[in-house]
Amino acid sequence: MLNVKNINTYYGRKLAIKNASFTISPGEIVGLIGPNGAGKTTIMKTLLGLTKFTGSITFDGQQITASNHKALVNVGALIENPAIYPFLSGKENLALYSRDKDDLNRLIKRLGMTAYIDLPAKSYSIGIKQKLGIALALLNNPKLVILDEPMNGLDVEATISIRKIIYEYATKGTAFLISSHVLSELQRVMTSVIILNHREIVMDVPIDKFQNTKVSHYRLKTTADDKQVQDLLHANNLPFEYRDKSLIIRTQDTAPIQQLLYQHQILLTELSPIRKTFEQAIVNVLEKKRGAE
Ligand SMILES: Nc1ncnc2c1ncn2[C@@H]1O[C@H](COP(=O)(O)OP(=O)(O)OP(=O)(O)O)[C@@H](O)[C@H]1O
Ligand SMILES: [Mg+2]
Repeated sequence: MLNVKNINTYYGRKLAIKNASFTISPGEIVGLIGPNGAGKTTIMKTLLGLTKFTGSITFDGQQITASNHKALVNVGALIENPAIYPFLSGKENLALYSRDKDDLNRLIKRLGMTAYIDLPAKSYSIGIKQKLGIALALLNNPKLVILDEPMNGLDVEATISIRKIIYEYATKGTAFLISSHVLSELQRVMTSVIILNHREIVMDVPIDKFQNTKVSHYRLKTTADDKQVQDLLHANNLPFEYRDKSLIIRTQDTAPIQQLLYQHQILLTELSPIRKTFEQAIVNVLEKKRGAE
C-alpha cells in the first residue's frame, strides 16, 4: 500500500534522512522509534510531500511528490501541532475537512469529546487540542494515518482510549505510522517497529522479534527460606545471583535445581523467565549501532 524506496530528504543542503526504504500494508501499526533529532518528524513530512526529497514514494500505486499530493486524499495525519482555528468550535474545525457527517458524529462520540465539541477551540486545554488533532487525522476513514507523538499531553485515560481506537481502526484495515518516545505506550499495539538513528533506519522488524528474545535467566522462589536454598546451590556448584530479594538462576540450571530442591523436600512457588524489557532491547540495538560506527 505504502512503498518507500531509497528516500533522501534535504533541508537546504543538509541531509536529514539517508536512504530510507520501508513498506506499510493495510492494518499494520508501525511504530517509528528513535532519539530526538533522529528524523522521525522529517520522514513523516516527507511521506506527506512536505519536504524536498529524492527516491520514490508510492501510495496505492500513485507517486507522491513535493508537487503531487493527489494520492494523499486517503491519508490522515497529525504532525507536530494540530492546525486548529481557535475561533471555530471543535466540531466546526472537524467539519471543514469532513466528507461524511455520520463519520464525523461517530468519531466525536467515540473519542468522548461530546461535552466540549461545540465550545470555541481556543478554550481547549493542550490535551483536548491534541485529541482534536487525532480526530482530524482519523476523519473520513483514511487508509493510512500518520501520527507524530500522538500521546503528547494526553492523560492516562485518554492514552488508553486512543490506543483502543487505533487498534479498532487497524482491525478494519487502516494502517498506522506512529512515532513516540514513550515506548511502552506503543508496545501494546504495534505490529512492527522501525528504529531510526541519526538519519538512518537501523532496524525494521515485526514486533514479536523483540517479544520472543531468548530467556537466559529465571527468577526462583521456594517454600524454604532463601538462605537455605543459597547454601544448597553453593554446595552443589550451581551458580546464582541474589537480586531484588530473589534468586536468579541460569536457564540451563533450571532442571538440576528443581531436582535438587525436590530431594530436599523444598517446593517451588515461582520459576519465571526474566525478559529484557522492550526499552532495553531498543537501547541495545541503538548502542550496538553506535559502537559499530
Ligand atoms: N525545517 C528544518 N530546517 C533545517 N533542519 C531541520 C528542520 N527540521 C528539522 N531539522 C533537522 O533535521 C533533523 C531531524 O529532525 P526531526 O524533527 O525530523 O527529528 P525527530 O526525530 O522528529 O526529533 P524529536 O524526537 O525531537 O521530535 C534534526 O537534526 C533537525 O535539527
Ligand atoms: Mg519530531
